[in-house]
Amino acid sequence: MSEPKGTILVVDDEEAIRCILNKGLAMRGYACDEAENGEQALEKLEKKPSDLVILDINMPGRQGNEVLPDIINRFPETAVVMASGIADPLMIAQCIRDGAHDYIKKPFRFEQVLQSVNGTLDKRQIEIEVQRYLRDAKREAERTNTDPRKIFAEAIESLINALESTDAYIKGHSRRVAALSVEIGRHVGLSPEELEDLRWAALLHDVGRIAVDPEILNKPGELTASEYRHIMTHAVIGPRLVRPFVNDSVVRMISHHHDRYDGSGLGQKVRGKDIPLGARIIAVADAYQAMISDRPYRPAMSKGEAVNELMWYSGSQFDPIIANICVGIVQTCTRMDA
Ligand SMILES: [Fe+2]
Repeated sequence: MSEPKGTILVVDDEEAIRCILNKGLAMRGYACDEAENGEQALEKLEKKPSDLVILDINMPGRQGNEVLPDIINRFPETAVVMASGIADPLMIAQCIRDGAHDYIKKPFRFEQVLQSVNGTLDKRQIEIEVQRYLRDAKREAERTNTDPRKIFAEAIESLINALESTDAYIKGHSRRVAALSVEIGRHVGLSPEELEDLRWAALLHDVGRIAVDPEILNKPGELTASEYRHIMTHAVIGPRLVRPFVNDSVVRMISHHHDRYDGSGLGQKVRGKDIPLGARIIAVADAYQAMISDRPYRPAMSKGEAVNELMWYSGSQFDPIIANICVGIVQTCTRMDA
């Protein structure tokens, strides 16, 4: 018998659903196991980790969304797809924030489940490869007694190049966001160490896009809600990828770089000044640099139009003080537009 394409644990209190998924996925080459509640799922994973878990939300005892953080923390290489009969956008956003890779609504068509499983396993594979690559770079630094930051910088450089080469619209974006963020950080009075962390976080803010479907990233038209959710997983995947290699402050800035100042962002838990300062700076620098560049869905805006947008969303999307500082910088400095 050939090797299975992957191992999947189906967690659902309804036996009929477990049975249908188990049989269907087994026929497509996956090795499946079943659990009827969250506790049983954790026990099974403890004995034998799975590549992927399909996790029902509404179950007796602990709900799937309550078990999710345990799975993510205890089995970081296991991907999770949530399943639920209720399409509550807040619940979906929360699960994605907590580390779920995808969400499927019941009753589902089998093809839909298969598509989600295949897509999620591809994403997981990329994450594992990137982490392995960064781990090797760290080991190399230790072996050759080189400054780990130097080796890590080189690894990140190639990672960013790889990322930006798949997406013509963001070529050079991370570096431009880093340059503008550091400039804003200087005006805010950050220390040299804080500026260094900010520079790393700004360079890495979109690294999670490496696991996002390039077709959705480059879609010229408007995004559907599920496509938008898919893109936003980059703010969860990115921190997960770089967590072993950078400090907590950098991880927090990357995690929060899409938070809105008024707290109304997708699955957002904090607002205003509770959002890390670096993340508020990156959010403004990222938006400005994105606005003055061509995107698949619109041509580049002029500097004046971008400044107007920043001011329009100041206080809602952006920290008003940071938006003001950014406007001051870009109006006096042409270097930031390149
Ligand atoms: Fe982003």
